This record gives sequence, C-alpha cells and structure tokens, in this order.
Amino acid sequence: MIHFSSLCKTWPDGTKALSDISLTIPRGQFCVILGPSGAGKSTLLRSVNGLMRPSSGTVAIDGIPLSPATERSLRKRVAMIHQHFNLTGRMSVAANVLAGMLPVVPTLPALLGWYSAQHRSKACALLDQVGLAPLHLHRRAQELSGGQQQRVGIARAFMLDPEVVLADEPVASLDPKIARDILSLIRNAAGQRRATVLCSLHQIDLAREFADRIIGMRDGKIVFDGTPAAFTDARIDALYHGAQWEDLPAADASPAKHPAFTLQPALA
Ligand SMILES: Nc1ncnc2c1ncn2[C@@H]1O[C@H](COP(=O)(O)OP(=O)(O)OP(=O)(O)O)[C@@H](O)[C@H]1O
Ligand SMILES: [Mg+2]
Repeated sequence: MIHFSSLCKTWPDGTKALSDISLTIPRGQFCVILGPSGAGKSTLLRSVNGLMRPSSGTVAIDGIPLSPATERSLRKRVAMIHQHFNLTGRMSVAANVLAGMLPVVPTLPALLGWYSAQHRSKACALLDQVGLAPLHLHRRAQELSGGQQQRVGIARAFMLDPEVVLADEPVASLDPKIARDILSLIRNAAGQRRATVLCSLHQIDLAREFADRIIGMRDGKIVFDGTPAAFTDARIDALYHGAQWEDLPAADASPAKHPAFTLQPALA
C-alpha cells in the first residue's frame, strides 16, 4: 500500500508541482495517472522512490514513511519502468536485466558481472515471461527495437519482486499494438505478484482499458479519482481542456460510484 499524505513540491523557481496530495493506493492496484503535460505526474511518481524530495508531506509504503533513514531499504521494494527504457545500450540484454539486482548486490561484483546462478536463471525466466527468446540474451540492448527494449526494462524491474512498480509513460514511444502488449505484460507481471502499479500515461483509451483506477491530475492537484467507467468524456474534457467541473452535466459532476474511491473535495 502506498500512502501520500499532504504531499507538496515547490521547485526553487516557485513552480508548484504538487499541491497537498493525499491519496491511498491499496496493494495490487493498477493505478493510472492521467493529466496534461506539467500536471505533476512524474513528480508524484518520483516521490515514491526518493528521486524527488517533497517540500512537505510524506509518502509511506506499507506504513513506513520514506526518509533518508528508510530510503535504501524501501528502494529495494520499488522498481521503475522508464519512458526511454534507461538501458545501458552497449551492455547485453542479460546484463541489463541483472542490473535490476543492483540495490542488493555490491557494486564491484555487479560491475564485473558476478551474479549468482540463481540470479541468472531468474533473469532468463523473466525474459521468457516478457516474450524475449533466449537468442536475444547476449545481444547488445541498443540493437533491440523499442518494444523489445521495454520488455527488457520490465524484466529488469521485476528482478527483485517489487511491491511497487512505477511506470512513467512506459509506452509513450511505442506503436499502439506494442503499447498494448507492453501494458499487458506490466499488468500481468504485477498481478502475479500482487505488486501495486503507479503508471502515468497520455493515452486515455489505454488508461480506460488497463486501469483499476484512474487519477486525474492538473496543476499539481488531483481533480479526478475514480474507476475507468466514471471517467466520462465530459470529465476527460474537463481534465485536459480546463472546463470547469461545476459545468459538467449532473451525471458527470456527481461523485464516482466505486466505493473504494472518492472524488477530491473540490469535486464532491
Ligand atoms: N527538476 C525540476 N526543476 C524545476 N521544475 C521542475 C523540475 N521537474 C519538473 N518541474 C516542473 O514541475 C511541474 C510538473 O512536472 P512533471 O514533470 O511532474 O509533469 P508531468 O505531468 O510529468 O508532465 P509530462 O506529461 O510532460 O511528463 C512542471 O511545471 C515542470 O516544469
Ligand atoms: Mg512526466
């Protein structure tokens, strides 16, 4: 479970990237964050693995607040999948997947490629799970297509059996068919382990198809929190085009029906 409590982030130039975000995401939920560019989606995701330090408020995973003292141990439980894959291009596919062990393997053995047989067989099993045949194992990551590289990114993310997976626009640079395949892989791999997924997307259709829950952000605030079914065309318009929520038809302006979610006070 991830719990955000009154999270705020103001950058040194005065930009308020997050304004008083309070949110609980239960274990195993596939939660998609939508919102226009600059809404604060990446900033929110990066608060969960310590890549962004909030100005105030807390993020807790299973009740343990993220702090300099807990960050190292919590990081082992949080994996990230990146828009641009973040692989080391000149290294092999196998080495990139094994790099998922870095939070628990000393740096020198990792640099020398000294991973245990158990870790190697786990990397192979994960590559198989994401649909990459063994013939790719020793290819350089940079030789792979974007879709194949993201499969490697997913395998790497699951090496430590994370409880939380952060995916920041994981399919932004992929064609629609591959994008769907990649989201299915993330969803299935997470589902098998009951991992919680926080995934930012720009594709509304994919969000509706894959999400258990959609969080809509604008200007650093949560303006929608509900099921895909409750994310109506009018709400999409309001999120992206700035229509006032008060102007929505009554059916769209009323709170989402899913009992697990509530609309933010501004909308209720
Ligand atoms: N390191 C930084 N320094 C200063 N401002 C930043 C920094 N990172 C992000 N911001 C600002 O914080 C706000 C939120 O940015 P963020 O990257 O979280 O948006 P986003 O919703 O992920 O957008 P996109 O859809 O374009 O990825 C923006 O105004 C952005 O310019
Ligand atoms: Mg972003």
